[in-house]
Amino acid sequence: MKPREIRPGIYSVGAIDWDRRLFDSLIPLPDGTSYNAYLIQGSQQTALIDTVDPTKQQILIDNLNDLGLEKIDYVVANHAEQDHAGTLPQVLSRYPQAKAVTTPKGKEMLMDLLAIPAERFVTVNDKATIPLGGRTLEFIHAPWVHWPETMLTYLREDRILFPCDLFGSHLATSDLYVSDDGQVYESAKRYYAEIMMPFRVSIEKHLERLKDYAIDVIAPSHGPMHNHPEFILKAYRSWVLDEPGNIVVLPYISMHGSTRKMVDHFVSALTQRGITVKQFDLAVTDIGKLAMALVDAATVVIGTPTVLAGPHPNVAYATFLANALRPKLKFASIIGSYSWGGKAVEQLAAMIPNLKVEVLPPVISKGLPREADFQALDGLAETILQKHQGLHLA
Ligand code: FEO
Repeated sequence: MKPREIRPGIYSVGAIDWDRRLFDSLIPLPDGTSYNAYLIQGSQQTALIDTVDPTKQQILIDNLNDLGLEKIDYVVANHAEQDHAGTLPQVLSRYPQAKAVTTPKGKEMLMDLLAIPAERFVTVNDKATIPLGGRTLEFIHAPWVHWPETMLTYLREDRILFPCDLFGSHLATSDLYVSDDGQVYESAKRYYAEIMMPFRVSIEKHLERLKDYAIDVIAPSHGPMHNHPEFILKAYRSWVLDEPGNIVVLPYISMHGSTRKMVDHFVSALTQRGITVKQFDLAVTDIGKLAMALVDAATVVIGTPTVLAGPHPNVAYATFLANALRPKLKFASIIGSYSWGGKAVEQLAAMIPNLKVEVLPPVISKGLPREADFQALDGLAETILQKHQGLHLA
């Protein structure tokens, strides 16, 4: 994609990655992604906000060449992760007088990760500014969105916020701005769930600080720009601050059908009580969908057979992930079956220390579930109903 003018003297110069399907060798990208970079020209100086993933470096370099720039004075590195900073060495080499602008922690990390020499940096404190001539960059330290060095850049006169990963979405689109609210909401929520949710407490503080800024456009470094910023700010406030909903997330695996029978019965028992259930067969599910479901849920119930005396490995993986993502869950339980014994319940319960949940009594059947097991599942559904009512959930 060639450079595209956002405002006179401000250009989108990044790259769209239509075909990428996995990020960090972990996160599914069903809709691709983009690595957005922005060029800002003042009357005296020029700044580049972020670079692009190294796989797309030639697109960025070509775009800067197309603009016929004689010089770049500053390359702002809001974040040291390679999908935004990975082309910084090439840009600094192409523009030898340019300085990389970052937080002190960002400098340390970029020297470690990309071997950029110390003399190429200008570090900035929180609320520091750099004038470009008629345009002013202000830097807002925002640690832990989602690494310790992260910052946001605010272009004062144009009222544009460049928050890098924050408010972003893994979505490849040729549209510069959000054109399909539903699609972007889904992608942004997936992004929040997979990347930002563990840092809810930090994000809450950053959202509060941003109230002091007049923002016309949010220009993240993944996905389309927001020219109606309240759309994404409101979504983030909801994901970060709202109480969880009257929702049970039910990730499970079944090997020979016993756990599946329990899941089927349990889902009916919950829905008959007016509880929304989001059920995921971990043999086939997209873990991003599971992460998204965890954003709003009050309860997770994990369904597992017993394999080699413990939970099924896919269940252990999903449980490890849920623990790492630190959703707002209030309650957890386990259902499943075993043939001759095992420690699946104990092992899973030990895997969720980050979740500040009340663990409700599990329901485990020996072999095929029988009437007593189904009654126990009804009892667990009733307990969850009462617990949710106690929270006054919607
Ligand atoms: Fe888009 Fe944390 O990198």
